[in-house]
Amino acid sequence: MWGGRFDGGPAAVMRDINASISFDKRLWRQDLAGSRAHARMLAAQGIVDAADIDAILGGLDVIAGEYEAGGLVEDAALEDIHMHVETRLAALIGPAAGRLHTARSRNDQVATDFRLWVRDAIDALDAQLDALSQALLVRADEHAASVMPGFTHLQIAQPVTLGHHLMAYVEMVRRDRGRFADCRRRLNECPLGSAALAGTGFPVDRFAVAAELGFDRPTANSLDSVSDRDFALEFLSAATLAGLHLSRLAEEMVIWASQPFGFIALPDAWSTGSSIMPQKRNPDAAELVRGHSGRLLGCLVALAGTMKGLPLAYSKDMQDDKPPVFEAYDLLALGIAAMTGMVASVEFRTDRMRAVAGLGFSTATDLADWLVRVVGVPFREAHHITGRAVAAAEAAGVGLADLSLETLQAVDARIDAGVFDVLSVDASVASRTSHGGTAPVRVREAIAAAREAS
Ligand code: ARG
Repeated sequence: MWGGRFDGGPAAVMRDINASISFDKRLWRQDLAGSRAHARMLAAQGIVDAADIDAILGGLDVIAGEYEAGGLVEDAALEDIHMHVETRLAALIGPAAGRLHTARSRNDQVATDFRLWVRDAIDALDAQLDALSQALLVRADEHAASVMPGFTHLQIAQPVTLGHHLMAYVEMVRRDRGRFADCRRRLNECPLGSAALAGTGFPVDRFAVAAELGFDRPTANSLDSVSDRDFALEFLSAATLAGLHLSRLAEEMVIWASQPFGFIALPDAWSTGSSIMPQKRNPDAAELVRGHSGRLLGCLVALAGTMKGLPLAYSKDMQDDKPPVFEAYDLLALGIAAMTGMVASVEFRTDRMRAVAGLGFSTATDLADWLVRVVGVPFREAHHITGRAVAAAEAAGVGLADLSLETLQAVDARIDAGVFDVLSVDASVASRTSHGGTAPVRVREAIAAAREAS
């Protein structure tokens, strides 16, 4: 393709280090779309004869059919997807193929292809995240009033509802979708027509090409167009955060499935056995999702490291932008699918959750709040009185609600039998009616609002 000024061919290792076809073949659909749009514009602007463009468009259709049916035959000597398509086109239609690259460089071509690919990836992930959200909403609805222990420091803190806990993940997924949408909005500008770095002297219509490819507008600066990979970094940032959320959900599945917790049972479809311990039932998929979040962060760090300090405009380092993005997409798509499957089918052991919810004096805050509300003591004093009640319960080996009124009155004479109304786990969650709180009534509202918004 650039043989004119060379006498010898590349060293074998030169060819190998230069080639990106092993991974950038994933861009073939986007490459063909970009070429079609560019070709039509060349004809419309009278830059290339309509007859040649017809031959080019026909050839591109043939290539699309071939790739669709049998993939492409990789040839490291042809470097990348762009040269594979161009070489195949020349084999199909002859020298007219050489006119397609008029007013175009692989620099603006690959920037365009990659933006199109990331845009498609975002759309696919958004649909997957929506499905995860719907699965969470179904289970949250089922368990809007199911009581479970809420934790801080992984110590039992206050009772919450399982529906509320699941809705916390709906919020995370909502933010993830927002971040991908934001990335999509910003990436949706078309680099084609920037050529190698300086723009082109041909009378191209960048607006027409941008519109045909579904971009909002052409990019504004030709140097920036071929050297910008912010969209890939933003994609990786959003993917890392989404993966991090999945890993927290996965970690909870792992903990909850463990025997000391016993909060959930994963169905056979999402469990694995052990080759030596016949009794085992392991949450491997959740563990892998948890682990993959580290690899996702690695992808972000890899590309940030590649881009750091690159001078304008294009440098070949940037060819390495694709593997981390492809890897991140694959990991995240798999992780969302796995977590969606687990959420939809996991069995929640609500009897066990309810029993544990009352442990650890989890309604102590309710007792303190009652002292503030009914007796009128300042919260700090109520906190102190309650601490002594907890100590009494601990000494007696019972829960707060099991203490006798006499014992409570020995702690503070102002306590009366009305206090027992607030010491149950159900009373506790029902009382948490503040906006965003765990009371079943608020959880049902949150579910309705989330359904409304999606
Ligand atoms: N395969 C290259 C990439 O992915 C295409 C751009 C090559 N441009 C160049 N001037 N060598 O970055």
